[in-house]
Amino acid sequence: MTTPSLLILPGDGIGAEVMTEVRKVIDWFGAKRDLAFDVTEDLVGGAAYDKHGVPLSDATMAKAQEVDAILLGAVGGPQYDDLDFSVKPERGLLRLRKEMDLYANLRPAQCFDALADFSSLKRDVVAGLDIMIVRELTSGIYFGEPRGIFEENGERVGLNTQRYTESEIRRVARSAFELAKRRNNKVCSMEKANVMESGILWRGVVSEVHENEYPEVELSHMYADAGGMQLCRWPKQFDVIVTDNLFGDLLSDVAAMLTGSLGMLPSASLGAPMENGRPKAMYEPVHGSAPDIAGQGKANPIACILSFAMALRYSFDEGTEADRLEAAVEKVLADGLRTGDLMGPEGGTPVSTSEMGDAIVAALTSSL
Ligand code: IPM
Ligand code: MG
Repeated sequence: MTTPSLLILPGDGIGAEVMTEVRKVIDWFGAKRDLAFDVTEDLVGGAAYDKHGVPLSDATMAKAQEVDAILLGAVGGPQYDDLDFSVKPERGLLRLRKEMDLYANLRPAQCFDALADFSSLKRDVVAGLDIMIVRELTSGIYFGEPRGIFEENGERVGLNTQRYTESEIRRVARSAFELAKRRNNKVCSMEKANVMESGILWRGVVSEVHENEYPEVELSHMYADAGGMQLCRWPKQFDVIVTDNLFGDLLSDVAAMLTGSLGMLPSASLGAPMENGRPKAMYEPVHGSAPDIAGQGKANPIACILSFAMALRYSFDEGTEADRLEAAVEKVLADGLRTGDLMGPEGGTPVSTSEMGDAIVAALTSSL
């Protein structure tokens, strides 16, 4: 078998420093578990703009289409705020998602026991929480046409279009039902069928997929605003949530805070299977580039490290090794190690980005 290939795109802000820690973990798996990866690194976001004048070069895009999986850090920063919309750092990320057709974005929200008191919600609301948001990632209002800022009757009008085809809804619904079958067998679909035609279609197509293909999975529907409320009221009622691109963006940030810190949450963006059977895939932390703390060794590398764990699970069929890595993260948290974002009133041992990475590698070694 050929060595699996990984394209690493650290991006901007804290992206580079959290990725340095992920590289330690990747190297550990190569050295200790005979799981070597062919790793190449490239630029995305503001870093790519600085070098090439675009947030993702065609050469990088071509490379992205060829590798077995991509690991991305984060993009964006205040120095790019005034750039033309078409070359903003975020456009690099959106181009990757769109051109690779990574339609199913898996965003788990899992509350580690050691951090249950750190959430802004009460311990019993979040302790043991383990839900999965499946966000549609390549369509909807993020990409719908027409779009733009126009002149009309002597004033400016901003326009975006929410648009979904049946097949786009069907394929992401299937991803959600498949995941539910391997979890607690429940899917809740969220839209605004009370005000949006695209929501009516969404609800109808998800119901059809359910009836025809997954009748054994429990399906419920919720308006997305009520869904946000229920996520804060009693999140443990959910198993898998499936929703569109924009609602998924919002609801996954809400779900993230249930776990205590945005610095903890990984994600996987999956597309159709490639010739080798692996899905097209990009893995990235849910958090952003955090320019305010970049370069100071304060960032939490856990979200990015857990994103690599998702790569092991979903791209490389190494579920046991993914479990091992997640257990190592759990161990360092239980041992009280805390980057700044995890420093609550209950204290803990403050550690830097690289100390956290080293501790996770040490926990991996002690797992052998
Ligand atoms: C996310 C981010 C992105 C999005 C931005 C950076 C384009 O918020 O991945 O959730 O809106 O999808
Ligand atoms: Mg977001």
